Amino acid sequence: MNIAPTNLAIDRERLWSTIMQTARIGATAKGGIRRLTLTDLDAAVRRWFIAACEEAGCTVRIDEMGNIFARRPGRDNSRLPIAVGSHLDTQPSGGKYDGVIGVLSGLELIRTLNNAAYETTSPIEIVNWTNEEGSRFAPAMLSSGVYAGKFTRDFAYGRQDRDGLAFGEELRRIGFVGSEPCGAAHHPLAAFFELHIEQGPILEAEKKVIGIVTGVQGMRWYEATVTGTDAHAGSTPMSLRADALLAAARMIEAVHRVATRHAPLAVGTVGLIEVRPNSRNVIPGECFFTIDFRHPEDRVLDEMEKELGTALPAIAAETSVTLAWQRIWNSPAVHFAPECIGAVREAAAARGYPAREIVSGAGHDSAYVAAVAPTAMIFVPCEKGISHNELEKAEPEHVAAGADVLLQAVLSMDSHLAEQGRA
Ligand code: GLV
Ligand code: MN
Ligand code: MN
Repeated sequence: MNIAPTNLAIDRERLWSTIMQTARIGATAKGGIRRLTLTDLDAAVRRWFIAACEEAGCTVRIDEMGNIFARRPGRDNSRLPIAVGSHLDTQPSGGKYDGVIGVLSGLELIRTLNNAAYETTSPIEIVNWTNEEGSRFAPAMLSSGVYAGKFTRDFAYGRQDRDGLAFGEELRRIGFVGSEPCGAAHHPLAAFFELHIEQGPILEAEKKVIGIVTGVQGMRWYEATVTGTDAHAGSTPMSLRADALLAAARMIEAVHRVATRHAPLAVGTVGLIEVRPNSRNVIPGECFFTIDFRHPEDRVLDEMEKELGTALPAIAAETSVTLAWQRIWNSPAVHFAPECIGAVREAAAARGYPAREIVSGAGHDSAYVAAVAPTAMIFVPCEKGISHNELEKAEPEHVAAGADVLLQAVLSMDSHLAEQGRA
């Protein structure tokens, strides 16, 4: 017979040592992780994860996007699984926690249920989504996006990194093209919960341990190519130049101005820039850069896009360059499912953790999964809100609290679905 769910507790030391164990795969000198999606290091952490899940008695299935689903059976396996998870890929200079804690707390949850011989009614699954970061292959959340029907598989396979390597080829190269079709129609979930670090400063500033995430703000990505004329740095008068980098610099200022005009909720970032020919005595003839705009309201993002659409061509005209730019991604604002938010709120209250509701500033796979399954997220603080940085830091007791809330939320959803005879 099952013990009461409230008496179940995750093993904090085991969870922490698992996080530190996988942090060695792609470890950087500054204490972070560089584990870009579909690299050999990504393959290594995937193999580690699959072996650990199988050792915990799970059956592992992989879909054609390389998404990994590890299932612990329930009492009634005709029911849809309750899933938890996140991503194991990182930014080029990523930290040890972004994404990772959401996947490994799922493993800890299953190990905890195993140790207590606790039988859930529904099966439980852990998911590792492919290419959440979008750093190597844009856009972000690509494979949860295919799962949710936002992108086609072939669109995803055709995405290229900055070296021209295609997502589909790299997925094949690392041996992770699974046999299962990707999509909620083929692999439906009863619910999805994702534990993540906040990646912002609010929980720490307010001394809260748990963020009850009610949704994710809207995000739009753009790419711009500015073309001028390569010319000699010594013999070309200032008045006769078509300097692509100068034009891009002014455009970057414009991105900053537009976002600042809609502050404090709006943010705007140029994070990637490539200059050609990139030679100290050649006036740059071409400049490529990316733009990331975010705001909780799609209406404001529309305005920001319009303002950018006026500012960038005006700068191009002033600086005698040509401009080609386009929006490559629109991830609208998302509101999570009230029943899943409620399960997280109640779990945090039952365990006595100081908590508050929060909207995510970062993108997450949950934003796409929410379109096809009831979904919510749990945030825990990270030091000074610093993330996408090798120095990203989370306290062991906060990560443990998050995993504890994840466990309680999953078990209460399991009881709730069992009572309703649903799924
Ligand atoms: C994903 O990490 C994002 O928020 O860009
Ligand atoms: Mn993440
Ligand atoms: Mn990230």
